[in-house]
Amino acid sequence: MSAPTGFTIHTLELGPMENFVYLIQDHASGRGAVVDPAWEVGAVLDLAHAQGITITDILLTHSHHDHVNGVSELLDHCDAELHLLKAEATFWGAELTRPTLHHGGDVLDLGSTPITLLHTPGHTPGSACYSLGNDLITGDTLFIYGCGRCDLRGGDPEQMFHTLKHLAHDLPAGKIIHPGHNYSVDTVSTLAEQRAGNPFLHFHKLDDFVFYRMHYHDQHRDSPYGPVLPGHVMDDA
Ligand SMILES: [Fe+2]
Repeated sequence: MSAPTGFTIHTLELGPMENFVYLIQDHASGRGAVVDPAWEVGAVLDLAHAQGITITDILLTHSHHDHVNGVSELLDHCDAELHLLKAEATFWGAELTRPTLHHGGDVLDLGSTPITLLHTPGHTPGSACYSLGNDLITGDTLFIYGCGRCDLRGGDPEQMFHTLKHLAHDLPAGKIIHPGHNYSVDTVSTLAEQRAGNPFLHFHKLDDFVFYRMHYHDQHRDSPYGPVLPGHVMDDA
């Protein structure tokens, strides 16, 4: 949880796949945005009620089942606007209720809290990260000391390489990462810590990254993921 600029990010770990569901609270307006509602909508509603939050928005990082299986149930309980990138809606192909489709760089306002959408393809074609204040919600793009798979339908390791380069080098080092799954020894981390210890951020050559992501990592490394020093990424071969 963090409250640096008039908002709080509440974290729920829900379901059998260690998903993180986030509830962003804008203090000035009392509005709330649920990121990737899934698994236990009742837990999200209970948290919102306890905090006096009115859920007005739903933000999707991507369309995989474990991140969206609570959307329709949540919409039954609140009149929320559903946000996702147009590229992901096209990839998904689902018939959505009142979707607001975005492009990378768009800014949406949750009361007095501006939230910027970043288009971060690689895990899926329209994966998004959400940047607000000093925080970055990363879905299945960037995990703590890991990154999302690229071998599922719509995955692309070349795009992931460029996405991670962009996140690692173009955002402030102090940015706090909030991932889509609890796959690490830590539940949050700074971008600086990830630059130092996330093996997926240690590659300079595209081909080496693609080999590691597609053919090496999952056979040699288990969660919970911890830091890996540069130069030691494939030590356990
Ligand atoms: Fe996913």
